[in-house]
Amino acid sequence: MAAADGVVIIMCGIIAYVGGREAAPLLLDGLRRLEYRGYDSAGIATMEAAGRPRVHLRKAAGRVDNLAALVQAQPAPGCHGISHTRWATHGPATNGNAHPHTDRSGRLLLVHNGVIENYQLLRDQLRAEGSEFTSDTDSEVLAHLIGRAYDRDGLPHGRERLLHAVRDALQQVRGTYGIAVMHLDVPGQLVGARLGSPLVVGLGRGEQFLASDVGAIGGHTREVVYLNDHDLVAVAAGDFEVASVRGGSARFEISQVEYTEQDAGKDGHPHHMLKEIFEQPAAIANAMRGRLSHEEATAVLGGLQMTPAELRAVGRVILTGCGSACHAAMVGEHLVESLARLPAEVEFASEFRYRNLPLDNGTLQFVISQSGETIDSLAALREGQRKGIRALGVVNQVASTIARESDGGIYMHAGPEIGVAATKTFTSQVTVLTLVALLLGRIHHLSSSEGLALIRELEAMPDRMREVLAQADHIRAIARRHAGAAAMLFLGRQNHYPVALEGALKMKEISYVYASGHPSAELKHGIIALVNPDLPSVFIAPDDSVFDKNVSNMEEVRARGGPLIAITTRGRDELERLTDDVIYLPPCDPLLSPLLTVLPLQLLAYEVAVARGCDVDKPRNLAKSVTVE
Ligand code: AGP
Repeated sequence: MAAADGVVIIMCGIIAYVGGREAAPLLLDGLRRLEYRGYDSAGIATMEAAGRPRVHLRKAAGRVDNLAALVQAQPAPGCHGISHTRWATHGPATNGNAHPHTDRSGRLLLVHNGVIENYQLLRDQLRAEGSEFTSDTDSEVLAHLIGRAYDRDGLPHGRERLLHAVRDALQQVRGTYGIAVMHLDVPGQLVGARLGSPLVVGLGRGEQFLASDVGAIGGHTREVVYLNDHDLVAVAAGDFEVASVRGGSARFEISQVEYTEQDAGKDGHPHHMLKEIFEQPAAIANAMRGRLSHEEATAVLGGLQMTPAELRAVGRVILTGCGSACHAAMVGEHLVESLARLPAEVEFASEFRYRNLPLDNGTLQFVISQSGETIDSLAALREGQRKGIRALGVVNQVASTIARESDGGIYMHAGPEIGVAATKTFTSQVTVLTLVALLLGRIHHLSSSEGLALIRELEAMPDRMREVLAQADHIRAIARRHAGAAAMLFLGRQNHYPVALEGALKMKEISYVYASGHPSAELKHGIIALVNPDLPSVFIAPDDSVFDKNVSNMEEVRARGGPLIAITTRGRDELERLTDDVIYLPPCDPLLSPLLTVLPLQLLAYEVAVARGCDVDKPRNLAKSVTVE
């Protein structure tokens, strides 16, 4: 879906403030916290309410530091303000396209995430009434639309008039939005609204925030209100009011913020991604905490909100997600089939939403999404619910849209993942899906002793992960030897084919080296034509039922001079003679081994990216949460 200036706007960032402190430093700090989401320009607008209210508007292309330097040179005083980081996938990053945008009078200012699909028609109408536009964005059209409604409204200047104007304008809009608005005639008031693009109200003492991501305000507030689609909110320093764009008031609940200052830091690591790679033992322990019953030899997942009878009635499981979440789903498919002996299938969320899969009420859908805001995954959830099946979320972000709209689900408790590349959230998702498979297995045919054995294996996984991560230096050396490769192959069988896909995705998205993942046996069906001395092949070949088959595939690559890197289980020394590099893992239940085999791939991608001088935490063209199609 392309926005006005011919670009597709991926997830941008919004932060707005009203209170007793100077707004500009708080807004710039918040924008820096959002910068990992993606950016190519940023802007802020502050309002001085003392005397005759004045607005200070500053915009800058490039990093938030550029905007900070501009504000340093041209201060933007005031205790009330809105700000935005913008990321357009193509087309120049210009000051004109940067937010905030103003209406025709210059007295209303707006920042916007999302896409206004009917902006051309609206722009033509507004132009016919004398509006002139300085940018080619849909967001500026929205600012003019609200400004026109405000100017036409007969109410006295104030919160009600501004709320009315925003509601009136949004009722004319088709598309998605997360907005923050302020008006010179209404000092001390912010108005926000959301449809398909997240927005949260941060509640402080004598100050309040609006933000597209709780991470932007994590250091300033412990209580937030996550807005729902069609919500409208008026925010002042000491109070807020939630209404509906459709008219009337709207329900809301106050949530506690799980985000801490420490989460925003890197704990001494050079990048968030490396910190998060090393957080995985703790992250999967958190995913299991309180959910393993030794007595019952099963998993306890109250969040599913399903009775044993309802769980027993499940005849088929569909797992949906995007990117890494879909790869986790593919590992989950093996787990459900093996442990619960239930038919399971994976669909990319973006495909599921447009397919017309035969579904019946014995089908259980899982929507896997760390952000809980990925629009394709949200649409897949809504499609499943539209077809009458129970749709459950596996989500990291508390109270995110998918978490709130699903019929139940399981929080991953992985903690905020700042690095754009998913690492701890991938293994956390696999862990949660293991718990689901254990629960389903134990209400069918899995015995108590089998359940207990799996629980013990799961509880041993954090330490096994630590053993693998302790090889980081060895893996860095391997990465540096191959950092110049133009492409790489990742190969694995069974539940390691999804791991091969995940390893290839990590390599692509942070080092920009072309990489592809394949079932090992597929080599001979065409891919082997690519093998040459400059194309490293990474084999995920733990000691399992298909180890020997993987060895045969490695022989095929070796015979054609292809460099070989193998990830295998300690003790399988025979690979030394066959490969250039071997990474050994501690033994574990083959069903759980993806939790270990993915770790070297994450480190490999990270180290190659660092060696190539890439921006590991903020890779080009990517954003952390993709909330447009
Ligand atoms: C993975 O490294 C990427 N960042 C991306 O593929 C991501 O997994 C995908 O966009 C899904 O995000 P979600 O889990 O927040 O829905």
